[in-house]
Amino acid sequence: MPGGIKLFSEFSLRSVTLKNRVVISPMGTYSAENGNLQPFHHTHYASFAMGGAGLVMIEQTSITRRGRVTNGDPGLWQDSHIAGMRQLVSHMKSYGAKAGIQLNHGGRKSSMQRAFRGNGPLTDADLASGEERWTPMAPSALSLGEGWLTPEAITLGELDGLRQAWASAARRAVLAGFDLIEIHMAHGYLLQNFLSPLANQREDDYGGSLENRMRFPLEVVRAVRAVVPQSMPLFARISATDWIEGGWTIEDSLVLARALSEAGIDLVDCSSGGNLRSGATNSSLGRGPGYQVPFAERIRAETGTPTAAVGMIRTPEFAERIVQDGRADLICLGRQALFDPFWAHHAAEALGVNDGFSEWTPQYGWWLNKWSRALAANGETPMGSEVFPEPAAVAAGRRSRSSRA
Ligand SMILES: Cc1cc2nc3c(=O)[nH]c(=O)nc-3n(C[C@H](O)[C@H](O)[C@H](O)COP(=O)(O)O)c2cc1C
Repeated sequence: MPGGIKLFSEFSLRSVTLKNRVVISPMGTYSAENGNLQPFHHTHYASFAMGGAGLVMIEQTSITRRGRVTNGDPGLWQDSHIAGMRQLVSHMKSYGAKAGIQLNHGGRKSSMQRAFRGNGPLTDADLASGEERWTPMAPSALSLGEGWLTPEAITLGELDGLRQAWASAARRAVLAGFDLIEIHMAHGYLLQNFLSPLANQREDDYGGSLENRMRFPLEVVRAVRAVVPQSMPLFARISATDWIEGGWTIEDSLVLARALSEAGIDLVDCSSGGNLRSGATNSSLGRGPGYQVPFAERIRAETGTPTAAVGMIRTPEFAERIVQDGRADLICLGRQALFDPFWAHHAAEALGVNDGFSEWTPQYGWWLNKWSRALAANGETPMGSEVFPEPAAVAAGRRSRSSRA
């Protein structure tokens, strides 16, 4: 690896090798129609792939219609969703990125507002604008808080159907050509509802003790593992802590991570939160740089399972330090990637491992390589310049150009 930079070294799980450790974190865009992808999704996801990330994760994608978090969630609950996904996957892969998909069921947070339309319970105004409201399902009939819908408690018979729905959606993801699948067990959605005592107060084999609360999520992992190729990696995104007294803790997560690994999960993606009444995602929490990295570090060190770190990781130097110090194997970027979809390429330049723009799509790279040499002749670099042209020199340049015309 040039310069010993680990962020841009390969990373392999099962038969999949990522060209670098930069992952675009799953981020809902709430822009699908009846689960179907739209042109927006192609522009959005292809930009990240073109921008050099090793792995681009497609946002939370619903395994059933009722499990949608919002009216705009993409789906893989029926075969007709496969073709659109397949097109997107091949588009992303044409830029050398691997394509992952996060499968989800919204649990008690199903049927809420699209984030950019409020991120709370659906209102009458939302319904008047055409949004549909339905009754969520969850381990217990406990709402997230005042104003939120009260879910129906899932029966034992329904659990069977849900296990099958997870497996069917995973099978469709394989048919669409995804390189890997992430099972969403975080952020207050169905599988985390089972894990957290804040949402699970069942009195059967699926509630009570930690072992019982882990039972359904582990059954889902085994059901998914049984239908995907052995060569395909599986990730699980967890909320390493609820950040709430009496809720899920990092110690619980260590137990879960070991069990996940035995059930066939290859990497634990370490997020947190989601059971707060006030917010749909943990991204609304005000936290410092790398605030969830210690979870990825502990799980990796104490269970031996590879991890991904996420949350307020913004600079190339910080990302590099996390992987270099062995605190996580992969770095997921959320909002920083929205701010700069070409972050990975820019990070390679900043860390001194941009090899003549050879990793860029050639339509850009060929020109940028020449451009960077022209910049260097002026004492400038692609990342910026210490040189500020004197007004007189600019005026002289302008005059000489117009006299040539
Ligand atoms: C617009 C947006 C949508 C998100 N949707 C999802 C999602 O679909 N699944 C998920 O696990 N996390 C989701 N998240 C959380 C991000 O993946 C990430 O964990 C979080 O934003 C923290 O990382 P950051 O500080 O780099 O943004 C979302 C975050 C944002 C900003």
